[in-house]
Amino acid sequence: MTDLTALTGQALAEVAACEALAALEEARVRWLGKKGALTEQLKSLGALPAHERPAAGARINEAKAKLQAAIEARRTALERMQLEHELAERRIDVTLPGRGEEAGGLHPLTRARQRIETLFRRAGFEVASGPEIEDDFHNFEALNIPPDHPARALHDTFYFPDGRLLRTHTSPVQIRSLLTHGAPIALIAPGRVYRRDSDMTHAPMFHQLEGLVVDENVSFAHMKAALHGFLQAFFERDLAMRLRPSYFPFTEPSAEVDMSCVFCNGKGCRTCKQTGWLEISGCGMVHPNVLEASGVDPERYTGYAFGAGIDRLAMLRYGVNDLRLFFENDLRFLRQFQAAFA
Ligand code: DAH
Repeated sequence: MTDLTALTGQALAEVAACEALAALEEARVRWLGKKGALTEQLKSLGALPAHERPAAGARINEAKAKLQAAIEARRTALERMQLEHELAERRIDVTLPGRGEEAGGLHPLTRARQRIETLFRRAGFEVASGPEIEDDFHNFEALNIPPDHPARALHDTFYFPDGRLLRTHTSPVQIRSLLTHGAPIALIAPGRVYRRDSDMTHAPMFHQLEGLVVDENVSFAHMKAALHGFLQAFFERDLAMRLRPSYFPFTEPSAEVDMSCVFCNGKGCRTCKQTGWLEISGCGMVHPNVLEASGVDPERYTGYAFGAGIDRLAMLRYGVNDLRLFFENDLRFLRQFQAAFA
């Protein structure tokens, strides 16, 4: 009992000297554990005369409590030191460049569409859009394609159970825009369209560019000039263009637009199948029935319309020979469009 003060002093010194949590825990067991040096002191109480025991016991418990408090304080200090050490070690340098960062790029079809929009806006056209889920009226009926019309068979339509459909062309935007805004109007409508076919040159979803101009005294010649001007601006070169008589239910007269082949300049190559011409669009004067269905007076107004494939325009401009490349999202293909082209 006499050495309790010295013992406590030694224990406190050891605790204060502990530099790690593990060492501190060892010290705690050594002094306060079941067989610890201070705990052992309590066992020696039995050897004391009865009247001395309470005071001695109290002193031992006091020493134990003091040591316990010292251990807790040291533990807190060591934990804080460890945390500070870890924070200093793992410091993040936020000024370092990130790993694997790469510049993104616009999809070639997006680039083509934006280019088309810019060129037509410059010529005074608005850019319009319509829903991809359409109804029979806007996709067919109002475009002068009645229910039993043979043109419906050509469209291989995706139908919903309720009779609605995925639009097979962007032409319904003509109807919607005229019904909303009336004449005069000058718009293009680029967008997705859907048909049930899929092969080398056809995808079940593809992109069309619709054009519509309705005003007083709009003529076939206006249409020809607008289309020719657009093609030369889009391909950035002088091109020959010709119109071949054709048929569409929503235009009369109707024509097919050909331009001189951008790969061989009209001399004949594989792309143009040796003809020197590439078919690029359908067009015509808006059928009076279409104007009427859209609430426009066909006695007062005339108009022209055209419908071209954006994917095909993009393929020709960028020299892409397989339509499917646009839809596979192979980064090796897409990266080539990052900055080089407009
Ligand atoms: N809608 C036609 C199609 O999908 C394309 C077309 C042809 C649109 C002539 C027109 C047009 O506006 O005048 O095949």
